[in-house]
Parts: sequence; structure tokens; C-alpha cells
Amino acid sequence: MPESKVNSRDSDLHLELAAAGSRRSALITALRDAVRAGRLAPGTRLPPYRALAADLGLARNTVADAYAELVAEGWLTARQGSGTRVAHRAAPPKPVRVPKSAPTDTSSMPAHNLRQGQPDAASFPRTAWLAAARRALGAAPNEAFGPGDPRGRIELRRALADYLARARGVRAEPGRIVICSGFAHALRLLFGQGAGGVVPGPSPSSRLRSSRGYPIAVESYGLGFHRSLLATAGVRTVPLGIDEHGARVRELGEATSKARAVLLTPAHQFPTGGPLHPERRAAVVDWAAARGGLVLEDDYDGEFRYDREPVGAVQGLGPEHVVYIGSVSKSLSPAVRLGWMVLPEHLVGPVLDAKGEREAWASVLDQLTLAEFLVSGRYDRHVRRMRQHYRKRRDRLVTALAEHAPHITVTGIAAGLHAVLHLPAGTEQSAAKAAAWHGVALDPLAEFRHPEAATAHRDGLVVGYATPAEHAYGAALDALCRALPPV
Ligand SMILES: Cc1ncc(COP(=O)(O)O)c(C=O)c1O
Repeated sequence: MPESKVNSRDSDLHLELAAAGSRRSALITALRDAVRAGRLAPGTRLPPYRALAADLGLARNTVADAYAELVAEGWLTARQGSGTRVAHRAAPPKPVRVPKSAPTDTSSMPAHNLRQGQPDAASFPRTAWLAAARRALGAAPNEAFGPGDPRGRIELRRALADYLARARGVRAEPGRIVICSGFAHALRLLFGQGAGGVVPGPSPSSRLRSSRGYPIAVESYGLGFHRSLLATAGVRTVPLGIDEHGARVRELGEATSKARAVLLTPAHQFPTGGPLHPERRAAVVDWAAARGGLVLEDDYDGEFRYDREPVGAVQGLGPEHVVYIGSVSKSLSPAVRLGWMVLPEHLVGPVLDAKGEREAWASVLDQLTLAEFLVSGRYDRHVRRMRQHYRKRRDRLVTALAEHAPHITVTGIAAGLHAVLHLPAGTEQSAAKAAAWHGVALDPLAEFRHPEAATAHRDGLVVGYATPAEHAYGAALDALCRALPPV
């Protein structure tokens, strides 16, 4: 059975011709099958007659006849100057099964998306990113196109060490940084789910291994996704109370607390919004040092602080007791899938063991692009621009509430991309329903509450102000204000 693997100028074409029947009809069948199966996509340019004929050991006329037949049948199109191509309507589109959660069905999307979580997608710095990618690709040595180092590219680790020290007060050196695909990936690596959550793997460190069976303390309000990720890894989470000074880290030292690790969002408590009080920052590091414990610092939106200097990372107070974790999910886009861990020295080896011999998650090309983006100053410029942009959005939210719902207090507005609207007791669920009725998507505060949280719940709504397109933001605020409970 002759096979073809023609590298035409436009397409790489693999055909297998049946032995039976005429060569012409065997070629027609093979081409039709390739189009029908989607292996030859609409618009694909087919190899010239001569190239395909030579490759398959056929007469040139046989190929010309087969192409003509398929053009007549509507599978192919032939136009002077542009060669023979797969017709655009040749293959009936195959129905695609879309999982229910995939956010592709825009018809069912709410009119106004005020859910927290995403930066402004319209502000992704496409031109600057492209320029950085072009420069990074041009400068990359050939070895960069081989399998990736699980530590991450040295160019990126160097750039991050500089940036994190300068902008976030992290005590970082490239040897302590491991690149990953984001915060969730870092959690999986730390708690032994290197392969993405399906196959539990070994816990990467003796310290964490010895913490097996011990719970990890988390803030009593946080992302349920992260709690369930830990639960899937077999790690129980216990809630630490939070108040206006952030997590009550003193509870870690209480006799009832068995936790050996604590997960915190110190720069901007997620989702309630305050920074961790300076005394508590020092206290949690002291606790970890005294107890042989570990602080996991989630610095998810540390760059976006509006009214004062950014709150630096806790990691700077005790690099041997803190795992600092950041990603570009808020500063650039969650689609990039790049993050980093700055590790205590004794955890570098175990985390690398958990990653395996080769980089399997974070694209080396994106790593090089991000390195260039950082070193060239484009990252700083983008963050500065977005800080202005989000500050204006926050101010518009606060002004709209002051005007239309002055009885609602709003907190957590000094930083980040979301705020918490505090509601009269007992009105959270009805306010969330009213919001949905007005086409506003947002999250009730209770969604973030740890199921075992001991402190009383204060009714509230978490409002993300980054996501709507600029032209749609005013209407989203109007709809939100209409939905809020009256005085
Ligand atoms: C609390 C919190 N932590 C971390 C992240 C970052 O997650 P990832 O890096 O996995 O996209 C987010 C979302 O961007 C978040 O809301």
C-alpha cells in the first residue's frame, strides 16, 4: 500500500492508498476520507500534482484527474494562482461535546459579569507581549528548544529574582525559584499531586510528609477550589478565624491546633480584602520557625495596591519558613499559565523531584517571553497601567454605591480587583438572587466560607470590577445598584 508524506509548501499530507481498485479511485477515496475525518482542514492547500504523483509513484495525470473529480464533487476548490485547496464547506462540522462548565456558550452568560477572579481581558498587552515573544525567540539559544528544565528557564528565574526582590520584597535567588503553571499547580506539587490531581504522588518534602495526617490551616474565607484541591490530595483543612487585621494566626499556636502548615493571602486577604497586620506577619513566621512549620504565601494580586505602597511579602521575614507563590493570572492573564514558587532551601530538591526530569507544564517559549517582558520593563509598565485602570474602576464602584446605596458599606477596596459589599443580616441570598434577576453575576460571600468556620458570618457580596469591558462597566454598576436591598 503506497503511502505519501508530502511536505508541500503549505501542508504536510499523509495519505494511504488502498491496494484494490484503480489508482485514481484509491486516491480520490483517500483524499475524501482525509477531508471527512478533519485531517485536511478547510482551506488547506494540497500539494502540486507533480509532488504528490512523485511521492505516491503515480502518473501526474492520475493526480490531476483525482483533484478534478473532487473539485467537481465540491470537496476541493481550484483557483488560478492559489492552487487546489480543501473547500470550506467540504466537511460537515462535527458536533463538539462541550462540558457544561466550559465558558464558551455566550448566550447563557449573564449580561453583567461582576464575578471576582479575572483581570480585564481586553487589556491583555497583546502588542508588547508579541514584541517580547519575537525578541525572546530571536535571542533564544538552540538548546532552549529541547526539553525544558523542571526548575524553569534560568532567564526567567533571574528576571523574577530581581523583580520579586524589587517589587514585592521577596528574598529570592534564582536557585530557590521553581517555575510552575500557577498557584494551583504549586499546591499540587507541594501536596503530592504532580500529575494534575489524578494520581496521588509522593509528598515532596520530609517536612510535608511528616505533616501527612496533620491538617493545614487555611483562612476561614478563601477559594473553595484550593480547599478541594487539598482535600483531593488527602489533606484536611482547618479554618483560622479572620478579622479586620487578617487571619488570627495566634490560633495556630493554640493547643487544639495540629496544623504544621498554614496557607495565607497576607497582602490582600482573599476575598475579604485586608492586609495581614504587621504583628501577625511576624508572629506567623515565628510560629513556623518554632514549630518546624511552613507558611504558604499566596501573593495572587500583590501588585495591585491603590492608595499606599504595596504591602511586601511575608517571605522576606523568614525565607526558610515561607513558600512564596505568585503567578501572572491577575497581572497578565490566567490563560498564560505561568507561576513561580520561591522555596526554602530544603524544599527545592523535593519539589523538583515532584516535578520530574523534564518540564511538563510551563511552556519554555512562554517562559522566555515572560523573562523578556520583565527584563525590558514591559511588565512594570503594564502593571502600572493596569493599576491606574483598576483604581478608576474601583473609584467608580465606590461612587456609584455612595450615590445609590449609601447604606451599604464596602470594604477591601485598597487593593486587588474585587470588593466586598456588606449587607443587612439575612439579605445575602435574596440580594444574590436579585442580582441574577438583573443580569448581574457575582458571588455571595458565603460561597467562600470554610464549612467548619467558627466565626459568625457577615452577609455580603463579592464584586469583581475588572472583568466587564470598559463600555459595559457603567451599565453593570447601574444593574448592581438596582439589585441591592433598599435601606
Ligand atoms: C486567591 C487566589 N489565589 C491564587 C490565584 C491564582 O491562581 P492560578 O495561578 O492557579 O491561576 C487566584 C486567581 O487568580 C486567586 O483568586
